[in-house]
Amino acid sequence: MRNIVLIGFMGTGKSTVGKRLALSLAWDFVDTDLEVGEVTSMSVPEIFRRYGETRFRSEERLVVQRLSRQEQMVIATGGGTVLNQLNWNDLTKNGIVIGLHASLEEIISRIGHKNDRPLLKSTKEEIEKLWSGRRECYAKADLMIDTTQKDIDEVVSEILEGLGRMTNNEFTRVSKD
Ligand code: S3P
Repeated sequence: MRNIVLIGFMGTGKSTVGKRLALSLAWDFVDTDLEVGEVTSMSVPEIFRRYGETRFRSEERLVVQRLSRQEQMVIATGGGTVLNQLNWNDLTKNGIVIGLHASLEEIISRIGHKNDRPLLKSTKEEIEKLWSGRRECYAKADLMIDTTQKDIDEVVSEILEGLGRMTNNEFTRVSKD
């Protein structure tokens, strides 16, 4: 059974939606940022602050290599994970990829004041550049869902419908949560 991999920009809801989706399917959920945190015993902002992005990306790479060998897991990636072609290759070998999109305004309003993301501590123009520069990569997903102004239940239902259409019901909802 394949994994389900959630990709998309920061603040598009990958972790929140992923957790709920995993619950609906009675699958395990895993978040690459949390895994990196677990392995290094540091939070993502702390790794960035003490060792820089390069160290974070190499820890993330090891986590992806390990997780891609698993099955029947919902994997929420970090916003930059699939920009590394090696991560993309590993995750797509055994995973169906769901891309989550949200407008820049929505992203900023979702994460605005409680922003602990090292790469979002810049001006709106810089964030926009990052957001638009990455859209093409996220658009390679097997299924793209716009989460702007949708609640978690709506997004999860759309994903389940899309998965049903694409895979002849390989993924079966077991709970209404
Ligand atoms: C990043 C996104 C973050 C985290 C790190 C880098 C990125 O994850 O992996 O701060 O490059 O977009 P979220 O997308 O879960 O915020």
